[in-house]
Amino acid sequence: MADTQINIEQIRSDFEILNQKVNGHQLVYFDNAASTQKPKVVSAAIADFYNNEYSNIHRGVHHFSELGTEKFEAVRGQVKHFLNAKYLEEIIFTSGTTASINLVADCFARDVLQKGDQVVISHLEHHSNIVPWQMACEKSGAELKVIGMTSSGELDYSDFEKLLNDKVKIIAINHVSNALGTINDIEKIISQAKALNIPVLIDGAQAVAHLKVDIQALGADFYCFSAHKLFGPTGVGVLYGKKEWLERLNPYMGGGDMINEVRFEKTTYNDLPHKFEAGTPNIAGVIGFGKALEYVSQISIENIKQAEAHLLDYATKKLSEIGDLEIKGVSDKKAAVISFVVNGLHPYDIGTLLNQYGIAVRTGHHCTQPIMEYFNISGTVRASFSFYNTTQEIDFFVEKLQKVIQMLK
Ligand code: ALA
Repeated sequence: MADTQINIEQIRSDFEILNQKVNGHQLVYFDNAASTQKPKVVSAAIADFYNNEYSNIHRGVHHFSELGTEKFEAVRGQVKHFLNAKYLEEIIFTSGTTASINLVADCFARDVLQKGDQVVISHLEHHSNIVPWQMACEKSGAELKVIGMTSSGELDYSDFEKLLNDKVKIIAINHVSNALGTINDIEKIISQAKALNIPVLIDGAQAVAHLKVDIQALGADFYCFSAHKLFGPTGVGVLYGKKEWLERLNPYMGGGDMINEVRFEKTTYNDLPHKFEAGTPNIAGVIGFGKALEYVSQISIENIKQAEAHLLDYATKKLSEIGDLEIKGVSDKKAAVISFVVNGLHPYDIGTLLNQYGIAVRTGHHCTQPIMEYFNISGTVRASFSFYNTTQEIDFFVEKLQKVIQMLK
């Protein structure tokens, strides 16, 4: 790791779980695409809030309610800064990427989509950026169109161009594929969509922990991500929405906090962002997420990106030397995810045996069954790295993987 700016010993001491032993071996956590580990500052902030400062927010005049409100709202400001959003009210807290996408899909089904309209997604999507749009199409009578993929695991951009027409009312696409690691050229997609005035939603779940996102430069209309893939807690997500869109769309859920005045005859809604935040939010989670954002900004996404690129290159070279192993997803532009199959072996068996050595990888379809169908496989073994991983861990993983392959053959 000498060639990156990261002090790996210091970093690893921030993540207590990395010292754990599993089945007698030091944990090697290569399941970062499923969820990242949390630095101690995150759990400490959550515990501190519950132990010493807990109260509900937005509705009390007493000390702790005001303090909690202040801390919660400060995180909205951090997210705005993190994304370089123009307005604070463009940041909506949800329970995760899935909730953020469902919010937009449901609002579009009700307020925008009509029979004969089209929604464009891609073959590379996670189920959470497929199913909500299928549901929206069922509700509205719109038609779902799918951008194809190529054998290297990239979007088929010529197919995308063919799908562009004035019936398309939204394009929903991921920034980085969770199953293959492909970084999609969303700049190109957004600029072509903009030329036709088509809004674009980006599922950024796999991107935010690895790439700098400047939402104003990008020009996406919606950008969704989860805190838990960005070193924060589960149950917290973000929906960035352009103000014009959030103003135009009606609320997704009704309840407390999202109203201005409730009368049996008619209810009026609160201003943004509260219009989309019905009910008591995950206050402690959001406060913990603020610590995660602080932690990431101290290290810097640029340093994280550099460290992960090194790990990806190193692991790709080593894994490519193993006979019968095939990496699925070989785009030149990839985040630190390697999905692979070994001829004749079931991914589940490989993952289970790797666990005997304390190595955590994910196996299966990774909630991307259409990608697996494209490759005509049931699933892959997926190793996904974060900046706290090391080349020594990769060496150990490759050594044990070879052993596992021998055992299973
Ligand atoms: N979407 C997560 C993954 O890719 C859970 O593993």
